[in-house]
Amino acid sequence: MTEKEPSRYTEGAMILPAIVARRACRSFKPDAVPPQLIEELIKAAQFAPTAHNRRSVECIVVTDQKTKQAIHDALVPQDFVAQAPVIIVPVSDTKIASKPREDLSLATENIWLQATHLQLGCVWKHVHDEKELQKIRSLLNIPEHCLVINVIPIGFPAEMPPPHTDAEFDTKRIHNEQW
Ligand SMILES: Cc1cc2nc3c(=O)[nH]c(=O)nc-3n(C[C@H](O)[C@H](O)[C@H](O)COP(=O)(O)O)c2cc1C
Repeated sequence: MTEKEPSRYTEGAMILPAIVARRACRSFKPDAVPPQLIEELIKAAQFAPTAHNRRSVECIVVTDQKTKQAIHDALVPQDFVAQAPVIIVPVSDTKIASKPREDLSLATENIWLQATHLQLGCVWKHVHDEKELQKIRSLLNIPEHCLVINVIPIGFPAEMPPPHTDAEFDTKRIHNEQW
């Protein structure tokens, strides 16, 4: 290794900056999110791996205040859901998907990381049960055979928790060969 090449093993160097900075953002500025940035987020979702490469995930982009409020009301209440300027709802068509929950989870993480890269804030807002799912389906006209496991409120952060640090890295959660 020459002097110019940074070591891959320098503290933090092997982790993407967005992985470190990605946090749950629950407080948003009212400013609208430009459509190009929303498109970047959805591109990230579409580049996420899917089981059997079925590419089952589609995204609904919600900016209408009444709809955002209705999404808030359908779920365990958390104010930021209605306050975020945009909500992305990832949807997996279970007629296409092999592992819809896994596909949706990975798409969500990609959106979260891309949002971090774009200095946007977002969070996974969980859809807890069949009752909540049915409410979201009916609100957004989503067919019965499509699954939603979360909604993702997004905006420019008003407050953002600090990036993760190596102080949180817990070597006790590593097991060699066996539990
Ligand atoms: C499966 C799952 C469900 C979550 N549901 C919610 C939720 O309903 N509301 C919320 O505010 N955060 C939710 N979160 C965000 C977590 O609380 C958050 O990621 C966790 O506290 C770690 O903080 P960090 O994302 O800032 O590292 C969820 C995260 C995951 C992975």
